[in-house]
Formats: sequence, C-alpha cells, structure tokens
Amino acid sequence: MSDLPPSPGTPRTPVSTPDAVLAAATEQVETALASPALCPVIRTFFDEDTFTATHVVHDPETKKAAIIDSVLNYEASSGRTKHGSAQMVVDYIRKTGLEVEWQLETHAHADHLSAAPWLQQQLGGKLAIGAGITRVQDVFGKIFNAGTEFARDGSQFDHLFHDGDTFSVGTIPAIALHVPGHTPADMAFVIGDAAFIGDTLFMPDYGTARADFPGGDARALFHSIRRLLSLPALTRLYLCHDYKAPGRDTFAWETTVGAEREGNVHVHNGIAEDDFVAMRSARDKTLSLPTLIMPSVQVNMRAGHMPEAEENGVSYIKVPVNTL
Ligand SMILES: [Fe+2]
Repeated sequence: MSDLPPSPGTPRTPVSTPDAVLAAATEQVETALASPALCPVIRTFFDEDTFTATHVVHDPETKKAAIIDSVLNYEASSGRTKHGSAQMVVDYIRKTGLEVEWQLETHAHADHLSAAPWLQQQLGGKLAIGAGITRVQDVFGKIFNAGTEFARDGSQFDHLFHDGDTFSVGTIPAIALHVPGHTPADMAFVIGDAAFIGDTLFMPDYGTARADFPGGDARALFHSIRRLLSLPALTRLYLCHDYKAPGRDTFAWETTVGAEREGNVHVHNGIAEDDFVAMRSARDKTLSLPTLIMPSVQVNMRAGHMPEAEENGVSYIKVPVNTL
C-alpha cells in the first residue's frame, strides 16, 4: 500500500530548509508557467464592508477547487451574522460545477469573521490554516480569558500546514510557505503559478500589511516579503485585502512578483530592512484597531466557530476593557 501515490489533496512529506522550500516553490511556478494546464482558474469575491478578497481557485481539468479566506458578514451593533458574501461563493461553485477540496485560511484574521465552517457545511472541503495558529490561540486565549474548553492545539481545524508542505488542487500542485510578520501564523499558498499571500504585501501602490498585532513583527514581515519576492517575476499574486490607494478608484487584488519588486511603495527592490522596519513601526502607531477585531479574533481562533454557548443557549463575544 505504501507505494501508492497520495490522493489529490493529501498533504505529503515536507521539504526541509527554507531555501529548499523556496526552490521547490520556484520550480513549481516555472513548470506551471510553461504549461497552461497547471495554471489554476481564479475567481475573486470582494467584500466591500471588510475590504476582503475571497479567492476561489480551481483546476479546470478536474473541477476540484479551494476557497481561500472567506467572509461571514457580521453586524457589530446587533451581533447578527449573515451569509450574503459566502452565499455568492456557494452560488458560483454550484453554477460552475466545482468540487471543493480545501477551505484555506492564510491566517487568523482580525478584521472579518471567517465563513469557512458554514461553507464547509454547504460544500465540504478540509479546513486548514498554518500550524502557528497554536501560538495565536495561546495569546488570544489568554487575552480573552477563554476557559479550558478552548483547546490551544489547532484541533478545531482539519489540517495544519507547516512551511514546505505540499498539497494539490485537483491535478495542480501546491506548496505552503510560512510567511510570519503580520501574525506568527501567516501562510502563503502557492498553487500552480499563483500565490495567495494573505496579509503580507498589498497592491504596489498601497504597500504592506501592519505588523503590530500581538505576535506581529515588522522584521519578520520584511523577511517573509523578500522571500515571496524571490519567486519568479511572473508569479501571479493574489492579495487578502485592498483599500484603494490614493488616486485609485477601483478595488484591486491581483498583481505579480515583478510589479511588486519594482513598484511596491514600502518594499520595492533597494529598500533596506532597517528602513522598512522603521517605516512600518511608525505607520502602525498611527493605525487604530480594526472595527471587528473583538468578534473576529474570538471566532477565528476557533476556526470560524462562535464561542461555546452559555447555559441559556446564547453565544457571547467578550470585550476586554483597557487590554488591547
Ligand atoms: Fe489580517
């Protein structure tokens, strides 16, 4: 049995060092760029309330798909959730005849709630995030004084990715890269010739993600970004957010490694690490916390599930006073 090839979507043995992982990702992208059948079809749904891009990635040959960074609509004033944004993803997947293999999270988001558990109910797929989620669970478990029933071992997810883990979407090969900085657990997923890079880089005219959340690190973010920018210039990059840079009227979420290397306003080629760290740290001091950070973190550290209901059957979101 042991010499059977892994079934599609089954994580395989990781390659070892960060350099070897980058070399494997580079080879994967180059192979895909030379072979259109290995380039996935990508459809993006943009949630304007949270400025979040949800990507549906599929292999046109097998129609197997992955959903990356979904959004559960949440109205803070009433505490009500809605499924409008996620329903658009469901409608598209059903209309296109796709079969979902993966529900991927690039990280535990602090600005929107994940719809992954609801999408999983509708469409299936394994729910996965970076293995560093255990650190995030530890930090926020303490901040929100979650009880012992809240496991800090990532067991709420179906799979935890480490740097260099390979997987596939249908017949398209994929590799997970650990890109910490915004949070300690951020992952980028390189699928064929396309990299889904979460909160690292934004569009070249907007810059980079903040690095001041608990566990964030501007220096680590710089190294993660330089690693992503070492991929081939034609690698397609898909972002998690866009906020329209000054002078730009439309939302955008797709660029390339080459465009970021040449034009990213925070980290184009030639920007030194110390200068980036100084800029990033100064800018982060001016930013207020995201509107939905309280519900987002408490829900997303539980893989998109609400906190356990209290004895009256109701789930509550806590606000720690004078803490964050
Ligand atoms: Fe984020």
